[in-house]
Amino acid sequence: MASVTSLSDNVQQHLASALSATLPEAAGADPLLRRSDRADFQANGILALAKKAKANPRELATQVVAQVVTGDVIEDVEVSGPGFLNITVADRAITSNLAERYADETGRLGVPTAANPGTTVIDYAQPNVAKEMHVGHLRSAVIGDSVVRILEFTGENVIRRHHIGDWGTQFGMLIQYLDEHPHELDHKDARVTGEEAMSNLDRLYKTARKKFDSDEEFKTRARRRVVDLQAGDPHTLAIWQKFVDESKIYFFSVFEKLDMEVRDADIVGESGYNDMLAETCRLLEESGVAVRSEGALCVFFDDIKGPDGNPVPLIVQKSDGGYGYAATDLSAIRDRVFNLKANTLLYVVDARQGLHFRMVFETARRAGWLDEDVTATQLAFGTVLGKDGKPFKTREGETVKLEDLLDEAAERATAVVREKAGKVGLTEREITENGRHVGIGAVKYADLSTSAVRDYKFDLDQMVSLNGDTSVYLQYAYARIQSILRKAGEARPVPHPELALAPAERALGLHLDQFAETLLEVAAAYEPHKLASYLYQLASHLTTFYDQCQVLSPDNPAEVVENRLFLVDLTARTLHQGMALLGIRTPEKL
Ligand code: ARG
Repeated sequence: MASVTSLSDNVQQHLASALSATLPEAAGADPLLRRSDRADFQANGILALAKKAKANPRELATQVVAQVVTGDVIEDVEVSGPGFLNITVADRAITSNLAERYADETGRLGVPTAANPGTTVIDYAQPNVAKEMHVGHLRSAVIGDSVVRILEFTGENVIRRHHIGDWGTQFGMLIQYLDEHPHELDHKDARVTGEEAMSNLDRLYKTARKKFDSDEEFKTRARRRVVDLQAGDPHTLAIWQKFVDESKIYFFSVFEKLDMEVRDADIVGESGYNDMLAETCRLLEESGVAVRSEGALCVFFDDIKGPDGNPVPLIVQKSDGGYGYAATDLSAIRDRVFNLKANTLLYVVDARQGLHFRMVFETARRAGWLDEDVTATQLAFGTVLGKDGKPFKTREGETVKLEDLLDEAAERATAVVREKAGKVGLTEREITENGRHVGIGAVKYADLSTSAVRDYKFDLDQMVSLNGDTSVYLQYAYARIQSILRKAGEARPVPHPELALAPAERALGLHLDQFAETLLEVAAAYEPHKLASYLYQLASHLTTFYDQCQVLSPDNPAEVVENRLFLVDLTARTLHQGMALLGIRTPEKL
């Protein structure tokens, strides 16, 4: 009985049968049910149906009400306004439904899995070799990781691809320099930290660049290296690999700080498609999708024009024969569709690359690689801004070091945790560990709680605040429940469907019931921010519940204590599961 029918589905079915009993032509019509402040649910669908049937909506609504079966699920239904239905659900139905979720032995809280799961290839967390990661890479990683977790939870087969920037002309200069100064990337120690690796690369990059700009002969040698690299010369490739390996030490250290699993096998960078590039171009040219223009292989679009009114093409191959970003992405599409058998391609990439992906996807459609059965979507995200509303940079105008940023978040969060640590009885180790989870959680939550396409301000003070829509608030809600459960002593959480519920218990219960539906919506539209907002509302319902209902009061009959323990325990499990899907931990004691 893993999957549980939600109360809203249940009510929906009751209404649908009443509707078709009243008005046979309305069979299958949607009663348009939603949660409401006036009753538990309100259905607005009768208005449109009445209009269609040329009937008086209030009269039709009254007839439908007469047909609604009340008792087990629906306690009461009445007509309101011009022909809405206000529905109150029976207390018993609420508790029984939650009890089923609580008893789900799969631990999925009754959330169903997709009947026909597909395969999604998701392209996210794609930094560039030999370069510092920036906040944009952080966004892609955080959003992508959450979408992976959410999709997997719904049963989708998810293949991760970290399309790192590990190929291109810039490597000629680096490789040449390292070949001429072979010890530049040597390590003093067997254990290299991410920071050390990045600073090695950064130093090498800067000196190589200087030489490249000032020494014509070096420049020529560097350019020749690009040709060697593309031709697969073993010595050149071996040096190139050193850059990739050194960069991975750095990437993995950042991902680990982010408490995020990135598997080496899923890192398939631009270089991984090198062998496909020529064929991609051939296929596009032979089918006429791409044409030669001034020596370059181009794809043109009617609706994409530059400021001068001339069409801007997607350049698949440059006139010197070199392949760029577009050729790689088009080859990656072929790989993902034909080898990995994807139904859905998802790209978690900065909105500023929107035009690139529009052109790439359209090209792939024309080539027949994408169609209505295999779709591609860019899950575009906005820019991270500083407190001043400008793109997030250091005061010197440089990219902010991600490691420093994450360390600072953890530090501030640790201070917040420490303040309350005495009361909860946290050891020094727990303080640091929780501080890390609160700090990283704060950064992730701030990113995930606004719609991805919007720009957002990176403000650490706000992120670790205990009040408002922050992860810390949610983590405290979870920890507080754990503390109640610990204090409960002999009393255990047990559902008692026979008990009448207080308004705050009903509101909390009805919201808990919405978890499954919320998740399916979130998964269908790739919108983790709606999950974040669901969880925030859940924590707010919990706060109201505490204000109005005591859990462990000696005045409560034993069944009330048990039923309330059950309600808060289910709330905790829902918070825990929801936060886990955002990639955020919920410490037991805080
Ligand atoms: N490495 C790129 C960057 O840093 C992002 C790659 C996005 N993915 C892709 N398939 N093009 O901007």
